[in-house]
Amino acid sequence: MFTKAVVRKPAHTFASGITEANLGKPAYKLALKQHDAYCEALAKCGLELIVLEADPEFPDSCFVEDTAVVTKDFGVIARPGNKKRLGEEIEIKKVLEPLLPLYSITEPGTLDGGDVMQADNQFFIGLSNRTNLTGSRQLKEILDKQNYTIYVIPVCNILHFKTGVNYLGENNILIQESICTMNELSAFNRIIIEQDELYAANCLRVNDYVLIPKGFPKTKSNVEKLGYKIIELDMSEFQKMDGGLSCLSLRF
Ligand code: GLY
Repeated sequence: MFTKAVVRKPAHTFASGITEANLGKPAYKLALKQHDAYCEALAKCGLELIVLEADPEFPDSCFVEDTAVVTKDFGVIARPGNKKRLGEEIEIKKVLEPLLPLYSITEPGTLDGGDVMQADNQFFIGLSNRTNLTGSRQLKEILDKQNYTIYVIPVCNILHFKTGVNYLGENNILIQESICTMNELSAFNRIIIEQDELYAANCLRVNDYVLIPKGFPKTKSNVEKLGYKIIELDMSEFQKMDGGLSCLSLRF
């Protein structure tokens, strides 16, 4: 069970963040409204929220997940792999320091939290344009000491590993077809995301609920069939900036 989450409000510079989505500019007021609804959903899941003020210096900084990897017992401060985002992790370190023992990814390692998926006692680390081999090795070394089983997997054609695959619990993963052949994931019950709903691969299990993006009925139905309670959230403005449900919080 998670008890806390760190979130950061979108900044007025949000629209100048990094994106390859080609879905147009996000509307700032609507992004704030959607972010409020996201925070309400996390509170409904039983989480106490640590809400950080917006940081206009970093347009992508509402996507806090990329700045750290957290568990109940410890955290690892990441080192974002896009130079525009390097530095976001400094404030997050200050916030987490009183709450968890911390490790850090160090230069020349790079690692985005969006490339790291925990599934019970296993961690999957995606090697992407953001997470390099050095960063993955540093994280593996930290997690090895904590007795987790680690898999390092190359990621192609998606921004982050968790753009394409997410663990719901009870051995269930939601996964895009293009990456479902990965041997390391073959032991899971794999729910393949339909080609016209790829964004919905980024759903988020939080305690008794699965948060899913609004407007993806096939994924919604498949998650419901697994017996999960659902909270649907409009994510349109974050999708425009290549962000998903998991990206908007650090949960522990
Ligand atoms: N806009 C999110 C990212 O590219 O990191």
